[in-house]
Amino acid sequence: MATILGIETSCDETAAAVVINGVIKSNVVASQIKIHAKTGGVVPEVAARMHVEKIIPVIEKALKSAKLKIENCDALAVTIGPGLLGSLLVGTETAKALAYVFKKPIIGTNHLEGHIVSAIAEQFPIFSSQFSKILPALALIVSGGHTELVLIKKLFDYEVIGQTQDDAAGEAFDKIAKLLSLPYPGGPHLAKLAEKGNSKMFNFPRGMINENNFDFSFSGLKTAVLYFLKKHPKANRADVSASVQEAIVEVLVQKTLSAARHHSVKIIFMGGGVSANKYLRAQIAQSLRSHKSPKLMIAPQGLTTDNAAMIALSGYLRFMAGKTDNWYNIKANPSLGL
Ligand code: KG4
Ligand code: ZN
Repeated sequence: MATILGIETSCDETAAAVVINGVIKSNVVASQIKIHAKTGGVVPEVAARMHVEKIIPVIEKALKSAKLKIENCDALAVTIGPGLLGSLLVGTETAKALAYVFKKPIIGTNHLEGHIVSAIAEQFPIFSSQFSKILPALALIVSGGHTELVLIKKLFDYEVIGQTQDDAAGEAFDKIAKLLSLPYPGGPHLAKLAEKGNSKMFNFPRGMINENNFDFSFSGLKTAVLYFLKKHPKANRADVSASVQEAIVEVLVQKTLSAARHHSVKIIFMGGGVSANKYLRAQIAQSLRSHKSPKLMIAPQGLTTDNAAMIALSGYLRFMAGKTDNWYNIKANPSLGL
């Protein structure tokens, strides 16, 4: 039993959330999308300054909507990496100051573990108490910064068995959306346009699909679309979007399935911003519909993109396992791995 305050500032969302006994009680996100839309991407210095402005009001709001005071929390969980250093520092230093003043234990949380546990957010109290029963599990983390296949053999024991060699899947969505003059961040806009298009119209490359490993590559797709649009500037943008989405989703689903079979996992988790994509959710579910397939758990739509509820959930798991720290041991690490 525990009450955890989660804090997340690894990229461009300032977020705080409260989890009590594995149940999300509040989840506040202040998005910087409008500011970064002007530059067509995240400017790290600007992101850090925005976090400084928002962090205290966001924490206050999360506590208030959970009807709590910080004194009532058992511990603080804060993202220590991976992410942008300036952004991470705002969250970590704020959490450290609060832990020091209120004499609370603190949990340095991995953003990627957050995306993994977001997949079980809705049944968290059940799953967190018997995690070992659903292992081995495979997690597909697909976001703007990451595309990773992670094998989970034991609780907190992760092995990255595949990852992108260049662009992340979300980055590919965003860069190609930019080529199609769609607003930032382009992923959801491209997905919306794709709904009206024919996904079989253009055959774009599926990077590394036939290679005997679980790695990904999406930069070739971006280049192929760039040259295609130069050659065919009048091509139907909905058809291009649908064909691009098809190429990305096919690779993600195929590699995930072959990794799941190879490692005989019982369950597949999917989280990260791109897991909001409806076509990806439908295709992966369809490919796993046989009763012999592993069970599939996807982050609820509201927890796919960056948030602090997933950080508080990961913190809760670690708190229950006795994995807490003192404020002076917490250090932001932009290149933290799983
Ligand atoms: O997890 P997230 O908020 O940030 C990172 O940790 O990177 O993911 C953001 C990414 C962006 O690239 C965004 O375009 C993508 O997720 N995304 C989508 C969709 N919704 C968000 N990509 C494709 N289809 C969507 N519906
Ligand atoms: Zn993320």
